[in-house]
Amino acid sequence: MNPLKHVAIIMDGNGRWGLKNKSSRNAGHKQGLVTVEKIIQTTIKQNIKYLTLYAFSTENWKRPKKEINYLFNLLENFLKKKLNLLHKQNIKLKVIGVKNFSIKLNNLLKSAEKKLSKNTTLQINLALNYGSKTELIDALKKLKKSGEKINEKNLNNYLQTKNIPDPDLLIRTGNTHRLSNFLLWQIAYSEIFFEKKLWPDFKENDYIKIIKKFRLIKRNFGNINE
Ligand code: FPP
Repeated sequence: MNPLKHVAIIMDGNGRWGLKNKSSRNAGHKQGLVTVEKIIQTTIKQNIKYLTLYAFSTENWKRPKKEINYLFNLLENFLKKKLNLLHKQNIKLKVIGVKNFSIKLNNLLKSAEKKLSKNTTLQINLALNYGSKTELIDALKKLKKSGEKINEKNLNNYLQTKNIPDPDLLIRTGNTHRLSNFLLWQIAYSEIFFEKKLWPDFKENDYIKIIKKFRLIKRNFGNINE
């Protein structure tokens, strides 16, 4: 059985769910947050130590302002309302991505990260204004400037995901088969599962089914099957 330390998720399908069920994309994001909360609890129950959630990409700024504002309000309210509960559950939070939001949101994110920084049950990496290409270019610039040798280990130290093990499992919901600029370096050997269901329809049971399948895969990491 494969050990499972780190699950990364591209939570796709909120917009389609919202349009289909409530005639509004934003209603899909609201429902998507319900799924986020459930999946966090299942991740803890499954004793998985890292959960990386793709909440907002560098490309998502192309969306209508109304939708962007809705998403960030959702995030802000979630953090304000649930911070104590996250702390009580011994959850650590790390934001990956470029934190260049409003001063208010930047401060909220920083103080949430600080409050939860010593927690050890589960580390949630929230990818916000995250893009893998930007992350890699920034890391390469820093590595070059440092004068250190250019190798995998040194590059890893300049990524946003420094000290986080690579994802063992990547899940993308929403019946779309692409990676959307998410952790391109880190998923070199991840097992990838594309799920047909839209994120708000993704249930604990669907998650557990994927985890069970993952556990049984023969992972060779480039070696041969014996
Ligand atoms: C992709 O679905 C989803 C997003 C860009 C946002 C993800 C946000 C949430 C799950 C809720 C908020 C989360 C937190 C942590 C506060 P899409 O809108 O691209 O869906 P579509 O492909 O159907 O258009």
